[in-house]
This record gives sequence, structure tokens and C-alpha cells, in this order.
Amino acid sequence: MNPRHVSYAFCGVTAGLLLGGAIALAAPAKQDHRAPTAAPWQNRDLLPDERAKLVVAAMTEDEKFAWLSGPMAIPIKDGQVLPDGALGSAAYYPGIPRLGIPAQQQSDASLGIGNAGGVRPGDNATALPSSLILGASFDPQMARETGALVGREARAKGFNVQLAGGANIIREPRGGRNFEYISEDPLLTGVIAGQSVAGVQSQGVVSTVKHFAVNPQETGRVLVSSDIATGALHESDLLAFRIAIDIGKPGAVMPGYNLVNGHWASENAYLINTVLKGEWNYPGWVMSDWGATHSTVKAALAGLDVQSGANIDPEPFFGMPLRKAVEQGHVPQSRIDDMVRRQLRSLFAVGAIDHPATPGAAIDYSAHRLLAQRAAERGIVLLKNEGPILPAAKGAKRLLVIGRHADVGVLSGGGSSSVSPVGSLSVDGAEVMGLPMAKVYHPSSPLNAIRAESNAAEVLFDDGIDRAEAVAKARRADLVFVFAEEWRTEGQDRQHLNLPDDQDSLIDAVATANPKTVVIIESGGAVAMPWLNKVPAVLAAFYPGSGGAEAIAGILFGRVNPSGHLPVTFPASEDQLPHPEQRDPATTTSNPGMPIKGGVFHVNYDVEGSDVGYRWFSRQKLTPLFPFGHGLSYTSFELSDLVTKVQDGDVVASVTVRNIGERAGADVPQLYVDLPGPSGFAPRLAGFERVELAPGESRRVEMKVDPRLLARFDADRRRWVVAKGKYNVRAASSATALGIAANVELLGRIMQP
Ligand code: BGC
Repeated sequence: MNPRHVSYAFCGVTAGLLLGGAIALAAPAKQDHRAPTAAPWQNRDLLPDERAKLVVAAMTEDEKFAWLSGPMAIPIKDGQVLPDGALGSAAYYPGIPRLGIPAQQQSDASLGIGNAGGVRPGDNATALPSSLILGASFDPQMARETGALVGREARAKGFNVQLAGGANIIREPRGGRNFEYISEDPLLTGVIAGQSVAGVQSQGVVSTVKHFAVNPQETGRVLVSSDIATGALHESDLLAFRIAIDIGKPGAVMPGYNLVNGHWASENAYLINTVLKGEWNYPGWVMSDWGATHSTVKAALAGLDVQSGANIDPEPFFGMPLRKAVEQGHVPQSRIDDMVRRQLRSLFAVGAIDHPATPGAAIDYSAHRLLAQRAAERGIVLLKNEGPILPAAKGAKRLLVIGRHADVGVLSGGGSSSVSPVGSLSVDGAEVMGLPMAKVYHPSSPLNAIRAESNAAEVLFDDGIDRAEAVAKARRADLVFVFAEEWRTEGQDRQHLNLPDDQDSLIDAVATANPKTVVIIESGGAVAMPWLNKVPAVLAAFYPGSGGAEAIAGILFGRVNPSGHLPVTFPASEDQLPHPEQRDPATTTSNPGMPIKGGVFHVNYDVEGSDVGYRWFSRQKLTPLFPFGHGLSYTSFELSDLVTKVQDGDVVASVTVRNIGERAGADVPQLYVDLPGPSGFAPRLAGFERVELAPGESRRVEMKVDPRLLARFDADRRRWVVAKGKYNVRAASSATALGIAANVELLGRIMQP
């Protein structure tokens, strides 16, 4: 038997990963940002906070205010120019050479280094698979490695702050930005986001976590108030952020565009001052989203430290108005110093000041593309495989690939997180923030990858536009692969879960013509599948990134054994959702910097509270199309001997997982716990571990449960309460699988927030 493994059920047990793989930061090559004479803050033995305080004491007011608000460092209107020294990216704050402090060059995002509007002509970047795929991999180590990839590319391009770390819980399955987020579960989201942030920062680049908090929809995104009771807020969205912050130690936090309980997130004193900086003792800085600052005094006193994208706000709130507010005594000078100190301490903490990033370093794009492919291979989910029809036999006579641009590339999501590696195909998408947002296909051709992987005599292609033609070709093929696509973008929710552009009826017609039809869905989240009974196999590929087609083809033809598990529930219908109706975007559309149509409106998340996704389905006794955690393999696994114990007050569960099939593969045993209580408490994911096993091999997996996952948050007394009682623990292969069960008796426990 293999040695025991501790899982990522508990945020305190990740030190091993955090220590592994730290980079050797290169010494500054081109620019020397050190102060001319040895300044006290250059003493690397001092703590980041001490060093930051010393710098602040030496700064002039002008220097301080230059770091409190800044424009987008992308010319978005004719005649605008880049600020001197800016590389061209989301933001730039000037350095202070006399103090040895480098400029801040901030870039988007979690999925790779963006290049909005081609502001850096010809600049290449690796496109990672969407964060949903990282969630689906249930693989903290992969999150760490792909985070480090982003950090490496950022640093090599001269960026020292990466606007990464999407850690929102997916509450709205039609949400436009779901592909930037990880899952509907606080533990999975927190662990993966935290490791990804730690990966970015391991390269000497600050990462944010965003968009703090409860930011599930884009419809009316600067006007929508996410209303939710305090207890449920802490047990769901805030818990995900808390876990991510504990693990990743992000240098900065970005509040969302939305309001939370009636106050914009960027000036929400409860979220920022009471919880984040107060109870959680968060030491870093809070930067607004771009065009999401709405006031001077209220925001400054609520804890906002920086007004980002100030040129798209109606006023330079943190510029002259803030200076005046200080002069008039509405905002204390100590708050200004605190705003700057927090930025400096985070930059010191990751090494961004001692080892400034300089543009022009070499990037190993081949190695990075391979890593992106590996991440996709681990996260793509095999949803259905009757027959089993997959893996497909090699050497067929005639294969057919159908899909709009499946000859050229794989789809990606739109918005600020968009990454366009050289060779990407851009077609018309939507208008986002008043700017045209292209629909980008990453240069990884499914047709070519299937040709390479299948060894078939003939692989035909059809774009699916001429329905009759596609159906006729399907009739003559041995096997058909339909690449269905569903594009999502920042700034715009999907209105329904159905595939757009009549693709549902296309799939239906093709599957009627040839029952050997395999559907590969490239989507930004859950989609409906009215044709599901007609096709033997379905793959959820989400947006698979730079090596996406190779990963898909590897799974289709068996080079790769699929191991992804759904990070979100796929509903059987929209009627099952806590919020079946979507708002009509035409009545509420608003974007930062755009005229606001209509006023603030409210979405009541108390309907589901902290029972998001699979918990809601369980509470309402609803059967989804595919449950959270579901994912098939080409081998089979068996769970046995679930044992629970209480160790120092914590629940520790161990289970044996065995590969009982004939090929090597990875399983993800999941631990679900039912809370005792009067009624209706839904099960919660309390632990998971990805385990690679050879045929016949077994391993004992140990999962230590974060007690907050067993607790309710008592909003009045500001504490977590684990109730005394008997807890039902289940080790299973999905949120709805029976798995194997055990009980554990707890005495009850109270914890600080
Ligand atoms: C997005 C942020 C992004 C920022 C800067 C905003 O539209 O919401 O996630 O970091 O733009 O590009």
C-alpha cells in the first residue's frame, strides 16, 4: 500500500506545496531600482510591513497620491496615449527612482497575460484552460503550476501585479464570467484559487483575488445588489475567499462591480473593513475594479485603497477630491499612509521590489503550451460514454469533425481575461465596456489534432452551417465528432442554457443520421442537452486553452484517460434553479463608464443562501442532468473502508481507493458531510484528493476537514459554531453518488471568524 496522503480538505495543510518549486528570482538586469545610498528599507532582514513603513515615511504627498488612482494603461479612445513608462496593460503607477521603488505594471488575468486591443503589438502569451477546467481537475498542484506559468510570463514581460485569482462562487449557471471562476463550492474554489495565486506570487509577481464578493452575474453589473443574510454570506462566498487568501496570501484584493446588501463592494465597509481587514486581519491592499469606484470619503473610510481605471469613472475620486478630503479632515492622513503602505508591503512580500520585473526575458512557450495541455487533459470531463464508444479505435476509415471553427481552433471566453496567443482567430463577439469584444479561438485545431491522434484514413471537416451537407457527410462516416460551442464573455450573461445558433437541432439531426456521434462541448459553464439520449458520448471541454485540441483528441483516442470531475452542477432544466428567471439585459444594461439605465436592483440570494449548486439540488430533492463531482474514466475505481475519527477536535476521514480496471487513471474521492440539524441542511464537500493509480493499485487517502465546513456562522455573535451531534460522512464519486458512509460524533465547537 502506498503512503498516506493528506488532502486539501484543510487550508492549514498546504505548506508542502507552497514550499515546493519556489523560483530563483533573477537579479535585476537592465534597470537598477535601488536607492542611490543604502536606505533603511533595503534591509531584507526587516519584515515587509516594516520596510513599507520606512518607505512611506520617505515619500512626498505627490508620490503617495500617484499610487492611489490611475488610468487604464491602454489608450481606449482616439488621441489617448500611454503614460510614460507604461508597458500597455490594465494599469500603470509610476515608480519612485529616488527611493528605489519600481513602477507598478498591472496586467490581466488568471488565464494568461492579456493584451487588450493589441496594445503591445505582436506580444505572444500562453492561454491556459478556463478556470472551470482547473476546478474540474480537483488538482491543487496543477493550479499551483499553472499559476506559476502566469507569474513567469508576467514577470518576463515586465509586469509585477497580476489581476488574477477569480474566487467567486458560481451561483448563477448562466453567468457570463463563470469560465473565469472555479466552481460552485467554497472548498474547491478556495483551494484551487489559493494555489493558483500562490503560483503567480512564487514568481515575484503580486496577484489579486477577485471579485470580492458575491459577484455571480453580469446583467446590470454595476447596478445589481447581491442581497444575502450575513450567516449564509460567510458560509459560502466569503468562505471561498477566506480559504483562497489563507492559502495564496494574495498581495491585493479587488472588490466586484456589484453591490452587496445595498452598498457597492468597493465602498462596502462591512466587507472590507469589518471582515477583510478587521476579522481576517488582511495585510494587503484593496484596489477597485476598473470604473467601480463611486465615492471619495465613503470609499476611503470603508477601506478601499486604490481607485483603479480612474479614467472611466465620472470623477477622479482618489485624486484631488481625496486630497481635499484630507485637508478638510474628512479622511485622516493616516489612512493615506495606510493605503500606500499596504501596496508597498505586498510588493516587498513577493520580492517585486528587491527583484524588479524587467520586460524582454525569454519565455519557453513550447513548455508552457504543453503545461496548458496537461492542465486541460486533467480537467476535461467525460460526462457520458455508452458502449463504451470511447476511447475511439485508431485507424478508422472515415471520421467526420463538425464545428463552426473546429478546423482552426478552440473557443475561449471574452472580456478582460481574454488571452490571444499568436495565431488566434478573432471573429465578431459582443460589445463590452463600450468596446468591441472579439470572440477568440485559440490556435489549437481539433481537426488537426484528431488527424494526428486517430491515424484514420480520412478525416473530413464540416463547419455545420449547411445542415443538409453536414447530415449527409455524417451518414457516410464511421464516427462523428461534433464540436458544439457556447461563447460567454465578461459584461454579458447567457439568457438560457441552450446552445446558441440552433446547435441543439444540428446535433439532433447529425445523431439521427449517425448514432455514432460524440459531442464535445466548449462552453463557459453548464449547458442544456436536449439531445443527450441520442448520443453515446459527451465531453465537457469548457474552454480548453492553448493545448486544448490536443488534450481533447488525446482523450477521444485514449492517449489520455479522462479524470476531470464537474465543478458545477449541470441542471436538467432552468426551472430547477433557485432563480429560474433571468433579468432582461435590455432594461438593466450598464457598464462602467456607460450611461446607467435604470437604478439599483436586487437579487435575493437568501433563496438558496449558502446552499449553492449541488447543495440546493440536494435540499430541494432535484435530480440534475449531471451532478457536481461527476466524471467518467476509462478505468473503474472502488472506495472502501471509510474510517472517521476526531483528532484535536477536527474530523479526519480516511478511505481506500483502488483502481479495479485495466488501465492507469486518476480518481477523485470526494468527502461529503451532512450537518445535523432540524431539517434541510444540505451536504457539503468537506474534502477531496486526486489520486493517480496503476491498474490494481490502491491507496489510503486521509482528509482532514476544515471545521468551518461543518459550522454555521452566527452573525450576531460573530463566530463559527459547530453543533454537537452525529455527522453523516460520505465518501463518493460525486455529490449524488451513494458512495460509502460513516458517522462521526462531535462535541461541538466555537471558532473565531
Ligand atoms: C474586470 C477585472 C479586470 C479589470 C482590468 C474589469 O473589467 O472586471 O476583472 O481585472 O477590468 O482589466
